Amino acid sequence: MPESNLQHWGLNPRIDFLNHGSFGACPTVVLNAQRDWIDLLEKDPIDFLAPERTLLTKLLHVRSVLQALINAPAKDIALIRNATEGVNAVVRSFPFEKNDEVVITSHGYNACNNAIRFAAERFGAVVKVAEIPFPVESPEQVVASIESMFSERTRLLVVDHVTSSTGLVFPVDELVRRAHRDGIRVLVDGAHAPGMLSVDLQQINADYYTANNHKWLCAPKASGFLHVKPEFQEEVRPAIISHGANADTESQSRFESEFAWTGTYDPSPVLSLPTAIDFITSLHPRGLSGLQQTNHELVLAGREQLLQKLNVSSPAPSEMLGSLATIPLPVAASFCPADAVSLQRKLFYQHQIEVPVFKLSSGLPCFRISAQIYNQVDQYERLANVLCEIV
Ligand SMILES: Cc1ncc(COP(=O)(O)O)c(C=O)c1O
Repeated sequence: MPESNLQHWGLNPRIDFLNHGSFGACPTVVLNAQRDWIDLLEKDPIDFLAPERTLLTKLLHVRSVLQALINAPAKDIALIRNATEGVNAVVRSFPFEKNDEVVITSHGYNACNNAIRFAAERFGAVVKVAEIPFPVESPEQVVASIESMFSERTRLLVVDHVTSSTGLVFPVDELVRRAHRDGIRVLVDGAHAPGMLSVDLQQINADYYTANNHKWLCAPKASGFLHVKPEFQEEVRPAIISHGANADTESQSRFESEFAWTGTYDPSPVLSLPTAIDFITSLHPRGLSGLQQTNHELVLAGREQLLQKLNVSSPAPSEMLGSLATIPLPVAASFCPADAVSLQRKLFYQHQIEVPVFKLSSGLPCFRISAQIYNQVDQYERLANVLCEIV
């Protein structure tokens, strides 16, 4: 792995780490900040953790940092562990009735789709899957596939801002507009979006938006948020019910109280978010938007190397990418999920390249590259050479 920005991460320098997307990677200064929070907590666990003593003030600071980042009022933002938790809270609180319909997409994240099915099917609601092709031609194709699933019974659309397996940026503003026109509420799963894209929640206008901070904002793991529009906050309850359920609502809403405390936990990952944002912003002369642009250009350059060397056509227009890119693998039709596992292991154990290899639900064998500021273009070239040799 090349030096330069890599020095700020504890990543193994002998590995070409091309999978920032899965779990992020946390810079050393951020981990140090997290350790400082833990040390402070253990100096006096009561003073630190009792919500009314100092915790709520600390959490409010983090929520106000997010307010500036995602353009949404702090009072409408809950700090949670991860996007799975956010999706669970929304769909398990949703007032489904028999024969209601929920639209999801074939690019959705399996864990979240499971939560949606669990929540909807208990009430006899029906989950409909919009089949979006990959390779994909345009954002309009995504909108058309999803919109074609809307019916008079559709109550909720759940859609990813950036898809996990196919690494695509979906046109969520337009999707929300179309859904609202038909009286359908929208939950956007933005697990990958903050730190990869500029996220403006006023502009997106989704009813619910959840995301991870540990991926592209490089916060410690177990740091995410859930934004809920004020009109739905009474309805949305955390997956875990705790003290907040009957707390008084004078100083804060029940939404705020319930999400601030879901049982004893370690708040150090969320408290370290401001340090993470400051640090990654400092890595680029043009701040976070400069870093995002650099990562986007890097993934395009890496993808180009791979497409050319593997002789594969581009599966998606570059304007549909952020800093992930999924590329079809030129392998025989008989390539099965076990072959994907063994190829991924071979890349890691024999060639020291960390990159996910999988089959999409459509059956297409693919791999996905990530580009974070510590990556360099020759790492993708090396992957291309290795793949040419072994595939
Ligand atoms: C689109 C999407 N949603 C949800 C998740 C789940 O994230 P977590 O496991 O942190 O909840 C992921 C993880 O990669 C994702 O890509």
